[in-house]
Amino acid sequence: MTNTSKTYVQYLWDRRRSNGIDRDLVALLHSVATACKAVSNSLKSGALADILGSLETENVQGETQKKLDVIANDIFLRRCEYSGVLAAMVSEELEEVYAIPDEFPRGPYVLLFDPLDGSSNIDVNVSVGSIFSVYKLDELPTEMTYDAILRSGAEQVAAGYALYGPATMLVLSTGKGVDGFTLDASIGEFRHTHANIQVPPEAAEFAINMSRRRFWDDGIATYIDECISGETGPRKRDYNMRWVASMVAEVHRIMLRGGVFLYPVDSRNRADGGKLRLLYEANPMAMLIEQAGGAAITETGRILDVVPVSPHQRVGVMLGSKNEVEYLAAKLPENSA
Ligand code: AHG
Ligand code: MN
Ligand code: MN
Repeated sequence: MTNTSKTYVQYLWDRRRSNGIDRDLVALLHSVATACKAVSNSLKSGALADILGSLETENVQGETQKKLDVIANDIFLRRCEYSGVLAAMVSEELEEVYAIPDEFPRGPYVLLFDPLDGSSNIDVNVSVGSIFSVYKLDELPTEMTYDAILRSGAEQVAAGYALYGPATMLVLSTGKGVDGFTLDASIGEFRHTHANIQVPPEAAEFAINMSRRRFWDDGIATYIDECISGETGPRKRDYNMRWVASMVAEVHRIMLRGGVFLYPVDSRNRADGGKLRLLYEANPMAMLIEQAGGAAITETGRILDVVPVSPHQRVGVMLGSKNEVEYLAAKLPENSA
């Protein structure tokens, strides 16, 4: 890595020349990065700025909102509505689709986001992130309803996340591979530090919330039990386990050193469809993982093929190193059918 590595904006302009992404998408991805820098900055002061803790309110999923969930959501709305290229936004923290106010120009893009992922970790100063997904509409709908904008993940034109860890990073795909950027505080810009990220196809590290073991379906339980039995079991090698409880942190680790992340449908969350949200958690992560050579499935097949029926719908998520995900898929009745 040199200190002359490209800035994120330089990278985007390169992509525009070589990869055909349009000027509007460059503007949008620039706005998103600005939002991520602002969220990163808000997180830094922690308790000093009285921004930790929860509010009295719940979001549309019935989850208690942290102060920073709301701050991060507002940052995304304010930075991105201004871009002039959006038709609408969809956020984990908003019940309704956010139509761009009349004072701003509109464009064909739709931005979906989880402004702060892993927010249970905020108060204990563990890594959190933001996740985003971008679609392009053929034409601007007259009415900005969910029906007008919901698409399957395969139609995403870009996806990414910001990880607010020891360093702040942005990881992005515009449909031709995955690249990573690290925030250079000295110039306030992301710099291109990780070119063409590839998920190692083989790995022996799994991430799952083990406390839910008694709720799991048989296929998941068998897979994890085999991992735990290690060298003496059918996999004939020892596995390691991690669980940060921030999906962004888990996916980033898998991007760089492989492994699998599982938040399956189980008997406790089946009525909700799972835990993680399809549109702004599962789909963008699935696009990134597939673009980096990994695999991303739900209980019935590829995540990116799920046709959404509602904006805040949840799905089972299993993703990571290709060979490991394929091995797991063969244990799931509807995947192996
Ligand atoms: P969010 O903070 O946006 O609600 O998402 C948290 C998600 C995800 O990041 C993480 O993998 C998972 O919830 C953690 O769930 P548990 O608390 O069940 O471990
Ligand atoms: Mn989340
Ligand atoms: Mn969130």
